Amino acid sequence: MATCCLAVACDKPEIAPRVDCPSFEPLSLTRLDLAGAKAAYLHAETKRNIRYQEALAPGYLLRETRPIVLQSKIERGQVCLEQLYTVGRLLFEHEYSFADGLGRDDAQTRVDPFRKVHEGELGGPETNSCTSCHWRGGPAGAGAVQDNSLIGGDGINTRSADARNPPALLGSGVVQALAQEISRELQEQRRLAVKSAKNSDEPLEVELTAKGVSFGSLQIRGDVVDTSKLKGVDPDLVIRPFGWRGEFATLRDFTMASTQLHLGIQSDDLLALPADRSIERGPGPKADRDNDGFVSELSAGQLTSLISYLATLQLPVVMAPEVLHEFPPAADGLSAPESHNFYQRFSEGQRLFDTIGCTVCHTPMMVLNDPVFRTTSEVTGKVYEIDLSKAGEEPRLTYDESLGGYPVWLFSDMRRHDLGENAAGSHPMKGQAPSEYLTRRLWGLASTPPYFYDGRSPTLDGAISAHGGEGAFAAEAFGELSHVDKGSLRLYLLSLRRAPQLVVP
Ligand code: HEC
Ligand code: HEC
Repeated sequence: MATCCLAVACDKPEIAPRVDCPSFEPLSLTRLDLAGAKAAYLHAETKRNIRYQEALAPGYLLRETRPIVLQSKIERGQVCLEQLYTVGRLLFEHEYSFADGLGRDDAQTRVDPFRKVHEGELGGPETNSCTSCHWRGGPAGAGAVQDNSLIGGDGINTRSADARNPPALLGSGVVQALAQEISRELQEQRRLAVKSAKNSDEPLEVELTAKGVSFGSLQIRGDVVDTSKLKGVDPDLVIRPFGWRGEFATLRDFTMASTQLHLGIQSDDLLALPADRSIERGPGPKADRDNDGFVSELSAGQLTSLISYLATLQLPVVMAPEVLHEFPPAADGLSAPESHNFYQRFSEGQRLFDTIGCTVCHTPMMVLNDPVFRTTSEVTGKVYEIDLSKAGEEPRLTYDESLGGYPVWLFSDMRRHDLGENAAGSHPMKGQAPSEYLTRRLWGLASTPPYFYDGRSPTLDGAISAHGGEGAFAAEAFGELSHVDKGSLRLYLLSLRRAPQLVVP
C-alpha cells in the first residue's frame, strides 16, 4: 500500500478507542495554502501508486483497504476519520475492474459489459467509476448531460427509462442531518396531536411545520390519522432528501444503491437488507446475487468509508462577486466595461430572488441544531457518528450564536412540489406523481450546469422557465423581468458556488 496516507498505525490489534488521531490533515485538501497544495499532491501520488499496484495485481485497492477499515474497528473508534475519508475518496475515484467484481452475470466474458439503459433496480452497470458521472466543478461534482443515467428502464430501449442528471454531492452529510432533524420535528408534532386527540371527541386538524416550512396537515379522529392533506412529504413523515424525486432518506441507502446500479458492485450492506426494505438484487445465490462469481464485493467498513467521504465533503458557499480589475485596461482612452457594479447588481439579484417568489420553495437558509451525522450499518446494526462541526472538508458547519445553531445555506425547503406536466417523467416513483420533484438545493449552482433533473436546461433562464405547476408563477415573474433585472438575478445565482480548491490531476 502506498505509505503516504493509508497505513497510519493500522496493523496493531487495538482494544481501546484511538486517541492519537491527527486533526484531519487530508481534509485540508480544500485549503488554498501550502498545506492544501501538499495534500492535493499527495492524493494524486497515492492514486498513481495504486494504479501501478492495480496493474501488477488487479483488485489491489479493494483487497488492501478491507482490513484497514473493518466495520468492527470503525465502530470501536479504532479507525481515524482521516483514514475513512482517505479510503472513501479512493473508493469513490477508483476505476473498478472485473477483479473487483465489476458488473453482473457474464460481464467478464461479454464484449461490452456495460448497459447504458438500466434494467429496473438492477441498473446497468453503465460505467466503472463514481467520478465518471460526478466530476463537474471539482471532486464529487455534478455531471454533464451525456453522463445522464437512464434509470428504471427495460435494459434495452432508451425510451423505457427516465433520464437523470448527476447532481453534485457537496454537503451530503449536512443534508442528511438536516432532513433527519425535520423528520423528528414533524413526527413529534404528530405524536403530540395523536395524544391530545385521544382525549377529545372532536376530529383534530394539525398543521405541520418545521424550520419555517409548511408540510400540510394531518386530520386525526380517535386512532385514525388521515395523511391525505400532507404536502411534499411521505405519510411516514420521513424527509427523503436524496434523488431528484426525494426518494432516499440516508446516504447509506443511496450509496449502496449507486454501487450496484452504476458499477455492479454489491455491498455486504445491500445483501443484508431486510426483506421489507429489499431492493432488486439479482437472481444469483444468496452470497452472490449479481451472479458474477464474486462474493462480498464491498465490505460494510468500505461502504462506511465511502459514506464518510461523501458526508464530509465541503459545503458550497455564497460568494459575492468582487471588483477584481477593469478589463481591458482603459489606457487607450476608451471606457472600460462596467465591472465596478457587479456587487450592486448581485445585491439587486438577491432582492429579486425573494420578491419574484423563488424563496417560496428555495428557502435560502435553515438552522441545523444537531451537527452530528449518523450512519447505521445494515450488517452490524451499529451506528457510526461524525460531528460535522468539528470534522470535514472546509468550509464546514460553523456555529452562529445569534441563531443558536448552525446555518445551512442550501436554498431548498426540503419538500416535494408538483412542477406540472412538462416536467413529468415516464414513471411514477415510490408512489409519487410523476411530476413531483424535491426542491433542488441551489447551493453550488454555478458549478453544476446543465440544470433540471434530466439536464434539459443548459442555461439558468431555461431552468427557471422549466418550472411549471406550482412553480409556474415564479417562471412567469422571471419572464416579465426587464433585461437588466434578469441579468442581476443570473449574477446572484452565480454567487452560489463551491469554494475554490487546488486539484492535482
Ligand atoms: C452513470 C452516472 C453515475 C455514476 C457512475 C454515479 N452516479 Fe451518483 N448519481 C447519478 C444520478 C443521475 C443521480 C441522481 C439520481 C436520481 O435522482 O434518481 C445521482 C445521485 C447521487 C447521490 C444523491 C445526490 C443527491 O443530492 O440527490 C449520491 C449520494 C450519489 N449519486 C453517489 C454516487 C456514488 C457513491 C457513486 C459511485 C458508487 C455514484 N454516485 C456513481 C449518476 C451517477
Ligand atoms: C414551487 C416551488 C418552486 C419555486 C417557486 C421555484 N422553484 Fe426552482 N425548483 C423547484 C424544484 C422542485 C426544482 C427541481 C426540479 C427538478 O427536479 O428538475 C427546482 C429547480 C430549480 C433549478 C435547477 C437546479 C439544478 O441544479 O438543476 C433552478 C436554477 C431553480 N430551480 C431556480 C429557481 C428560481 C430562480 C426561482 C424563482 C424565479 C425558482 N426556482 C422558483 C421548485 C421551485
